[in-house]
Amino acid sequence: MKVLLIGSGGREHALAWKISQSHLCTGLYIAPGNAGTSIIGENVNLDPLHFKSVGDFCLENKINMVVVGPEEPLVKGIEDYFRSTEGLSNIMFIGPSADGAKLEGSKDFAKQFMQRHNIPTAAYRTFSRNTYDDGVEFLKTLKPPYVLKADGLAAGKGVIICNTLEEAKNNLHEMLEKERFGKASSRVVIEEFLEGIEISVFVITDGENYKILPSAKDYKRIGEGDTGPNTGGMGAVSPVPFADNDFMDKVENRIIAPTISGLKKENIRYCGFLFIGLMNVDGEPYVIEYNVRLGDPEAEAILPRIVSDFTLLLKCAAQNSLFDEELIICQEFATTVMLVSGGYPGNYEKGKIINGLNNVKGSNVFYAGMKQDGKNLVTNGGRVIAITSVESSMKEALNKCYKNAEIIDFSGKYYRNDIGKDLQQD
Ligand code: AMP
Ligand code: GLY
Repeated sequence: MKVLLIGSGGREHALAWKISQSHLCTGLYIAPGNAGTSIIGENVNLDPLHFKSVGDFCLENKINMVVVGPEEPLVKGIEDYFRSTEGLSNIMFIGPSADGAKLEGSKDFAKQFMQRHNIPTAAYRTFSRNTYDDGVEFLKTLKPPYVLKADGLAAGKGVIICNTLEEAKNNLHEMLEKERFGKASSRVVIEEFLEGIEISVFVITDGENYKILPSAKDYKRIGEGDTGPNTGGMGAVSPVPFADNDFMDKVENRIIAPTISGLKKENIRYCGFLFIGLMNVDGEPYVIEYNVRLGDPEAEAILPRIVSDFTLLLKCAAQNSLFDEELIICQEFATTVMLVSGGYPGNYEKGKIINGLNNVKGSNVFYAGMKQDGKNLVTNGGRVIAITSVESSMKEALNKCYKNAEIIDFSGKYYRNDIGKDLQQD
């Protein structure tokens, strides 16, 4: 089976690594890929948003399966393009239709969907420029902190949490009137603040059946002790100790099952990954957000724990036969520590030479923002390298990650030293 994987981050390096382990995979292309994926498969210089060139490549190279890593091509309709184009419609496709991708592409759509299917989430209302005054009145009915969300995609930056009413009003004004996030904030969801601890739950579905993949906890803030600005994610651990059977039963019965059956009832074509960002509020799960992809860096921590043939799992999803596929997950702990460029998530310099990769022992190294520059590998983004270790305890896995984090070197290197600390029981 020849597979085309779309994307270029650490998540895609981990996906490429996992997909290529299967004997079913006889050829792997990554568009556009990165320096890490080029070691595993063949990088193809295609723009994932230029659907025709992606489709033409698939025809010319007899691709059997397309797997989409990031959300943007999905929100913009790449699955619909494949489904409706002659010659492409029978290629197996992992990623939802544009209608399904609205679960991530529109916060308002996601909230309405949850309401229609009685899925627990924070109380909310949506406002636009015409209803700004109503938005201010609604804010007055809430207790601080206030949660403001740009409706559309805003590169992970569209959520603002404000401690005072004044700050919330100003931000609402900036988002609606001054288009702070462009069109993405022409509508703003204001919602109740949920107090608790977050967890990322991942599912693969064929649109009717589903399998629950390993869950993970992501560390979003740049600073230790969860301080400073939000990033794409500074590390992850899987499994999450508080997500025991009792909690996961609630997640499955109240959230996963109604979401998948809701999509089916609404005739929304959805074959692919679903990432549910949850808040555990005193043992009760509430949906914070849906994403229509795997998380990054969560993918780097959860994929190494999947023992079953992952490519076969994807094939079963694409062929509507997930029900008879067994999913085996390893019971060990996986931890991921991200090495980032100094200054990230603000301004940072690129092109710093990366040394020490050959001396890494006992961890997987997934490349994110790095590229080959002549003989050297150099930094090429904010999040540079994800180091993942799998061991029988979280502590051991973290020790290994941190040993290797010291060995890999580049000017300005930064990482959080407290990944998983809040969850360790010993
Ligand atoms: P999102 O982009 O939707 O993942 O939101 C970014 C972050 O904002 C989440 O990871 C949460 O930490 C926080 N957040 C979003 N919605 C809420 C909420 N209703 N209550 C508390 N925190 C929230
Ligand atoms: N790590 C969070 C995300 O991928 O959205």
